[in-house]
Amino acid sequence: MPNDNVKPIPGSEILSEEAPPYTPLEGKTVLLGITGGIAAYKAADYSKKIRALGTRVIPVMTKHATEFVSPITFAALTGEKMYTDLFCVEGAETIPHIELARSADLFLVLPATANIIAKAANGLADDFLSTLLLAFSGPVLFSPSMNPAMYAHPATQANIERLKTLGYRVIEPEIGETACGDQGKGRLPEWSVVREAILKATTPQTLRGMNVLVSAGPTREYLDPVRYISNRSSGVMGYAMAMVAFRRGARVTLVSGPASIPHPPGIEICPVETAGEMEDIIGKLSQDAHVIIMTAAVADYTPAVRADRKIKKNTPELRLDLVRTNDILSQLVKSRKGRQIIVGFCAETQDLKAQAIKKIRLKGADLLIANDVSQPDAGFDVPNNRVLIVSADGDVEALPLLHKEEVGERVWDRIQDLLLQDTC
Ligand code: CTP
Repeated sequence: MPNDNVKPIPGSEILSEEAPPYTPLEGKTVLLGITGGIAAYKAADYSKKIRALGTRVIPVMTKHATEFVSPITFAALTGEKMYTDLFCVEGAETIPHIELARSADLFLVLPATANIIAKAANGLADDFLSTLLLAFSGPVLFSPSMNPAMYAHPATQANIERLKTLGYRVIEPEIGETACGDQGKGRLPEWSVVREAILKATTPQTLRGMNVLVSAGPTREYLDPVRYISNRSSGVMGYAMAMVAFRRGARVTLVSGPASIPHPPGIEICPVETAGEMEDIIGKLSQDAHVIIMTAAVADYTPAVRADRKIKKNTPELRLDLVRTNDILSQLVKSRKGRQIIVGFCAETQDLKAQAIKKIRLKGADLLIANDVSQPDAGFDVPNNRVLIVSADGDVEALPLLHKEEVGERVWDRIQDLLLQDTC
């Protein structure tokens, strides 16, 4: 198990470098439709965050929205000309709504009021934003936000259902206190939820029809009811593997050891604590999985005895007897179902490449992703990772320092190559 006091491998300091920002929407254009709700102020903040994903954000406001937030705010935050109505666009050479509708990869309406939802559900086009919606043929995401009574109204609910049947996507609002002080469903979701919906809507669904099982996080091996042995795994890399698969259209189940990371929307989570619990649940869930990713840092040893009561300090010394846990990855390889793809991860503090090649041969996985956890800028507790992708034939691809979600994308690209080879 990794140790807290790991020292950098001599000479490895030269690897320290800044990871480039994670910009999965590089080269894309998002139309941001802002309608007249109090959450319009949050759209200002989100517009900046969407832009940070690498995309151009073109804001389009309804007249009512401009009463909540000034158009200048959006123009400044997005660096774009502001569009508010059909006939008044400075310097336009072509019909602006058609031109905008052609150029965008996604149309996000946030906040979406009951009014715009009703109009879009019925194909009404009486202002610039609703006209643009009709002219747009790409993916559209509505993020409703309104007073809970308005949201719960049968007319609004029927309109939302109608939007879905028309092929529009709807981000479910959150339950809580809305801006008007009422409690209920109607709050604009947190940025992490909106971010995932945007990434899902703009990612080609190359894993549609695939069942993916991912394990993540540490395990806890209990000595008594209050103490356990564990490790520094945060779970972030495993969650990133799960989220990338979900964005690409897979059905994803995540078996997670204790991790303080928000639940990724759309992914089924099975929480576990011990290596034994992880082994049991993965054994069951692996039956239907096309791809299994063992990102979890499973404990190799567990106390031989788990005391029923708290161990008291009434002896000068305490020795622990530990017994080996089963190696889940090796078991999965031995009982492989058909042509399942099985991927392991390993964390090392020395001889990364040699250890990884030895491990993939020993365990028989299709790919092993190895990272050097002695580096301060990669691995535990940081958003970035620098990994080697080792294949079963001993081929090694070294990736530079990258955001963990980008590492996830690169690893999934390699898994998809293996899936393609299988179908050829
Ligand atoms: N693994 C597993 N079951 C275990 C231990 C590890 O399935 N009981 C899996 C991990 O999820 C990972 C891979 O094996 O995908 C490599 O884990 P790692 O801890 O690096 O290797 P170990 O086999 O535990 O070897 P060591 O700790 O001696 O380096």
